[in-house]
Amino acid sequence: MTDSKTASKSAAPMSGADPEVASGVSQFFTPLVHELTVLAINGKQAHWNVRGRDFLEVHEFLDTVVDHAQEWADLAAERVVALGLPIDARMATIASKSEATNPKAGFKQSDDTIADVVAQIDVATARVNAAIEGLEELDPASQDVAIAIRQGLDKDRWFLAAHVSVK
Ligand SMILES: [Fe+2]
Repeated sequence: MTDSKTASKSAAPMSGADPEVASGVSQFFTPLVHELTVLAINGKQAHWNVRGRDFLEVHEFLDTVVDHAQEWADLAAERVVALGLPIDARMATIASKSEATNPKAGFKQSDDTIADVVAQIDVATARVNAAIEGLEELDPASQDVAIAIRQGLDKDRWFLAAHVSVK
């Protein structure tokens, strides 16, 4: 894929937001949008291919994980756009930037499925932690968005991990 020649020449924000704030929020939220989008895609992969005794529970809860990941990606992306900058969440961009491990293809037992999705949640959580830390001084309103996403990721991780762990 190649960039359109009509792409914006300048990254200057279009809104009234401080350019430094907009750029900082974009720097922290764009990687978060990428990993949440990967979580949504690989979450569906897991939803379709899970097998095992607790199939139905895991199958159904993975759809909740996917829905949340899409909601939070939208929330973070729209925060960047609200501050006047575009978001680059094209498929090829996400594929080249994500640090998540590509799960193995094919049917998988529920324990392995859960381990894969929890690992993906942990990658997204690392991104959101960086945003929480980096945005505290720069833009508390954006930090609030990151904190809300962190709370949701923690809860979904708990619901998943509780299937396979007593810790
Ligand atoms: Fe489904």
